[in-house]
Formats: sequence, structure tokens, C-alpha cells
Amino acid sequence: PRGLRVADRGFLNTAVLRSEITYIDGDNGGWFVRGYPIEQLAIHSSHLETAYLLIYGSLPTKTQFDVWQKEVMHHSVVHADAEQFFRSFRYDAHPMAILTSAFAYLGSYYSEANPSLQGQNIFTKGDKRSLALMDKQIYRLIGKATTLAAMAYRVRQGRQFVTPPTGLSYAGSFLYQMDHLGEEKYRPNPVLERALDVLFLLHADHELNASATTVLQTGSSLVDPYSAIAAGCASLYGPLHGGANEAVIRMLISIGKPENVPAFIEAVKKREKVLSGFGHRVYKTSDPRSFIVRKTADEVFKVTGKDELLETAMALHEAAMKDEYFVSRKLAPNVDFCGLIYRAMGFPLDFFPVLFVVPRVVGWLAHWRQMMLQDGGVKIWRPRQIYVGAGKRDYVQLAERV
Ligand code: SDX
Repeated sequence: PRGLRVADRGFLNTAVLRSEITYIDGDNGGWFVRGYPIEQLAIHSSHLETAYLLIYGSLPTKTQFDVWQKEVMHHSVVHADAEQFFRSFRYDAHPMAILTSAFAYLGSYYSEANPSLQGQNIFTKGDKRSLALMDKQIYRLIGKATTLAAMAYRVRQGRQFVTPPTGLSYAGSFLYQMDHLGEEKYRPNPVLERALDVLFLLHADHELNASATTVLQTGSSLVDPYSAIAAGCASLYGPLHGGANEAVIRMLISIGKPENVPAFIEAVKKREKVLSGFGHRVYKTSDPRSFIVRKTADEVFKVTGKDELLETAMALHEAAMKDEYFVSRKLAPNVDFCGLIYRAMGFPLDFFPVLFVVPRVVGWLAHWRQMMLQDGGVKIWRPRQIYVGAGKRDYVQLAERV
């Protein structure tokens, strides 16, 4: 086909749509959520308030936020049958495999939100009823994300599931379900609760990252939002994306003491190892989230005590930031050193990507909603290719092949 141009590898320089949601200033290390700098939101806002901003485009009034919070928290409960679904996994199943499946499973409860059963887009701009139906799926997916994550955590420990509590914050309810030991007096530590909420806020969106693109690619066929979110979850699972926060800790454990850092750096330069937690497709000076992660880590370590890997992480950071190999490739720390905080808070290592998915459901839904309501309706994403394979040739019988 004429006029086709092959996008650079990995869509390096390809914009597939126009969006009003997030702007990343890669050259100056800035991230703006509907125009608000992430640094201001991290100080003044909460994950749920920023979630409203991401999805609906403006900071909520008090009434709007109260309704939003009530709806999301009300929809955090999962049908009791889900227990059998979670119990069907082996004890050592990776929680991301469980969570990816759980989102698609969740969709099987809500046929009214499944365009595949109606053969058309049921979410149309300006139609109050269909917008209310869309909002309900958004409440359900954000509300239930914490519960599904907590269930994936507890099924691996062979522990009872915990019904989402009332009266706690989004992060507080999640921590309660994760670590609730049956005592009614249990309440999350306020410093750790705020730290997790800030980390949720930092992970809520990030423009068209690989998983958000996956959600849109999948959602463009008008599949239900639960299946599209499950696809995004699968994409985020990979170590080049959301799995990097787990890979960072495995990397630091493999390095061990700070004196082993120079040898590791040399191995990275020889491409024998990857420096997880460094580099970013868009940020070419610094990832603004890494500074907020650093500040949050200082707060958390005051409560939990310092992580013994911290020294190694600092030594690695210092060595990489002054080494020509990394400087020339504009590699700086990204958001994924937050794994040190998750480790200090006692989360199991393979659970870290789950802590990325829970908040990122918000960004995925913001982009999905924007696509579903765009002017002119949804167009299926179907890129082309430049064919460089064999020319036309005739079939050869098996007996004649040599
Ligand atoms: C996230 O897109 C998003 O916004 C993602 C995210 C979000 O919020 O959704 O920010 C979350 O995924 C953060 C990134 C987490 N991943 C990691 O930390 C894994 C390690 N990082 C690399 O895999 C890499 O930096 C990527 C995947 C993040 C970015 O890869 P790109 O943009 O395709 O860059 P590249 O691989 O082309 O790298 C350019 C050069 C290459 O060297 P040359 O071949 O040109 O000589 O830099 C090198 C790469 O080899 N390089 C690295 C490196 N990252 C890039 N070398 C060593 N260690 C690294 N971490």
C-alpha cells in the first residue's frame, strides 16, 4: 500500500492519538496531569482525588469527591463466588498471573457492560444512561482492584480473604485487607498509609505507556472494559515495564554489597546485565517521580528502619550517574526504585508489580473512557506493515521437497 512509513522500532517516534489526559515533558523531566504538575498533586492531593481528575478532567468539588469516594469504596466488594476462582490457583502462582486472570473473570459478572453481547458500542457520548453505565464499570474496576490484589496476596499465604472494611481510605482499606489479622482494632500506620497513597498517585497514569496502549488496542475492538484492563495487566507484568520494580530488588540482591557495584556496572556496559530501574523511553533528563519516591522512602524508613539494600542502591545510583556509558545514553533512575519502599513495608517481592497495577487501573480507564467517547466514535486499531517476505511461489508436494 502506498504512502506507508514504518514506525521506528518500538514506536519510538509515533503518536497514535491526541489526548487531554497526561503530558510528559521528556526533555525537562516534567509530568502534568490535566495540566497540574505531579509535584503539586503528590503534596496536596490523594490517589482517589487524582483519579477523579484523570478520568473526568477536573479536580472534584467536595460533593463530587464525596460521591466518587462513596461509589468507588462501595464497589470494592467482590462476589463471594470469586473465592473459588482464587483458590483454583497453585499456592506458588505469580500474583500477576492471578490478577491478570481475575480482571477478565470479573467481567463475566457484568454482561450489561459487555458490548460483545450487544454487538455495538454501548458507551456513547451525551447519552446519560450509557454514561452512568460506564461510570459504574469505572467504580467497580477501581474499587475492586485493591480487593482482587489483596485476594491474590492471601491465596498464596493460604489465609482467609478479608471483606473490604468501611470507613478507611482507599490505601487504608487495601492495607487492612492485606494484613488484617482478625483484630477489629487493626488500623494501618498513618505514615505508611500516606506513603502508599502517594505511590498509588505516582503510578496512576503515564501517557501511552505499553500497558495503556495495550488497553486501547484491545478496547478498540469494543470488548468489555474488564477484558481490556486484563490485557493491560498482562503487558505491565513484563520486566521492561511494571515488572521492573520487582527486577530492581532482584538486581540489588544479586549485587549484594556496595563494593560489588563497579563489577556490576561493567557487566551492564558489556550488555551482560540490565540496570533495572534506570532509563525511560520519554524522560531524557530525569523522571520527576524518582525524586518523590526518594522523599517518600525517607518518610517510610523512619517507621520501618532502613533497608540493607539501600546502601547498594545509592552506590549504584552514584556510579551510574557519573559514568559516560549511562550519561551518553541519557539514562537516569525511573520510578521503579519504589521497590525499596514496598520491601520495607513488608510486601513480598513478586507482589510489587501488583502494587503498580492497582493504581494504574485509573490511568488505563481514563484513556479507555477518552477513546470510547471520542468524536466520531471508536475506530479499531489495525496498523499496517511493510511486507519484506518471499515473492509469489507455487506449492511443492512433500515428496518433491529436498
Ligand atoms: C516503566 O512508558 C512509561 O511511561 C513506562 C513507565 C510508566 O509509568 O508506565 O514509566 C513505567 O516501565 C519505567 C521503566 C521500567 N523499566 C526498567 O527500569 C527496565 C530497564 N530500562 C530499560 O529496559 C529501558 O530503559 C526502557 C525499556 C525503560 C526504555 O527502553 P527504550 O526507550 O527502548 O530505550 P533503548 O532500549 O533503546 O535504550 C537506549 C540505549 C540502548 O543502548 P544502545 O543500544 O543505543 O547502545 O540505552 C540502553 C540501551 O541498551 N539502555 C540501558 C538501559 N536502558 C536503556 N542500558 C542499561 N541499562 C538500562 N536500564
